[in-house]
This record gives sequence, C-alpha cells and structure tokens, in this order.
Amino acid sequence: MSASADPVKVMKEQVGKAAADRVKSGSIVGLGTGSTTAYAIQYIGERLKSGDLKDIQGIPTSFQATVLAKEYGIPLTTLDEVDRIDVAIDGADEVDPNKNLIKGGGAAHTREKIVDSLAEEFIVVVDSSKMVDRLGSTFLLPVEVLPMAMTPVMKAIEKLGGQPQLRMGVKKAGPVISDQGNFIIDVKFDRIDNPAELEKTLNNIPGVLENGLFVGVTDVVLIGEIKENQPTVREI
Ligand code: A5P
Repeated sequence: MSASADPVKVMKEQVGKAAADRVKSGSIVGLGTGSTTAYAIQYIGERLKSGDLKDIQGIPTSFQATVLAKEYGIPLTTLDEVDRIDVAIDGADEVDPNKNLIKGGGAAHTREKIVDSLAEEFIVVVDSSKMVDRLGSTFLLPVEVLPMAMTPVMKAIEKLGGQPQLRMGVKKAGPVISDQGNFIIDVKFDRIDNPAELEKTLNNIPGVLENGLFVGVTDVVLIGEIKENQPTVREI
C-alpha cells in the first residue's frame, strides 16, 4: 500500500471488490447503500462490461444505489418483477460478534432491510473499524419516523431509556429527509443488551417506519483489514 493511500478507503475498496467477485451470472442482486457498497457496485459494473459477468439485474436500496448502478451499467429491476433475490451486498455502521448490525448511517435502512432480508445470501461489507463487541457502542441507532409523529415517537423512545435526536442536514437547512420523505431520529442507548427485542419494541411505536437494527439477517461478513501494510479481506 502506498504511503499516501487512505487506509480506510483502501479497505473499503478491497472488500467491495471481494463481494462483487462473489456475484454469479444470472443473479438478481440487492444493491446496498454507502461508500463501501459503492465499490461493490462499481466492480459489478466492470465485470459486466468486461463480459466476465452476464445477465445481472440489480435491486437498489436507495437513490444513491440507483444512480451508481446506472452509472456503471447495471440493469435494474423492482421487487414487483422478481420472485427472488439471490444475493444482497450492503455496508454497516456496526457489526457485533453474532453478525447483528446497526445500519442507517445513510438514512437508507428501511429499504435496505426489505431488500437485504429477502436475499438468499446477505453479504455485509465493512472495514475493520465497524467491528464492535456490543451494538450501540460507537454509533447512534437510526430510526425512520413519519414527520407528523416525530414528537410522540421521541417521547416513547425516552421512556425506553434512549436519548433521541433529530438528524439534521448538511448543506441543507432543516432535518434530513429520507428517500421515502421521512425524518431520521438517531438514538443513544447506554446499552443494547437484547438487539432482537429492541428492534421489535421500536418498530411497535406508532409512527416508526423502521429502525437500523438488523438481527439474524446477515449470512456473511467480509471485513477489510490492513495487515503488514497490505490490504486483506477476512470472512466471518
Ligand atoms: C445506509 O443507510 C447505511 O446503512 C450504510 O450501509 C452504512 O452506513 C455503511 O456505510 P459506509 O459503507 O459508507 O460506511
């Protein structure tokens, strides 16, 4: 690895490429969101262009994924047109030892959960900084909420012991608006002891569309690492 290379970027690229290499011709592929998956989309496109891969259809999880897929020449389809998703590739903000995730750093977790959980094989692509012993240790938990329900949802989250904050835009005045036109509330929990239970409890609050806990969905995690100054990919 060259001295000037950004190690996180290098890890993300390696792991994105490793996931793209696992895609087989004839597959319907869930296309995740975020900077790591962007490399996977790029390399799937390059494999299509070179003829190494044929007959792929992508199902995007966000406007970002749609734009990238079009840029790299991946034909797109929708959940209405297909009866299966063979493989989904997506990033994560945290991964615990049980392969449970926090997602939603890009506000795309609602569509991501639909697509990723339908896939026969769900491959998570992360750099090594995303690995944690316990979910919620480094990242706030994103919750997508209907705008008119923002206040009651925040109160309900406080009753559960969380500290909610409305995600605000960068280079956009006011709150972040999801691809579905909703708000994102980021929640700090002191401890997430039971992710499966919290996932259900949060989704049961009226006005909540989806939260960023992905429990029991992941099949494979590909982790980009730097070992002896060389990028490598480890699988769990
Ligand atoms: C999008 O909402 C997220 O779930 C992303 O998949 C997650 O934030 C990972 O993004 P990066 O690959 O950019 O870190």
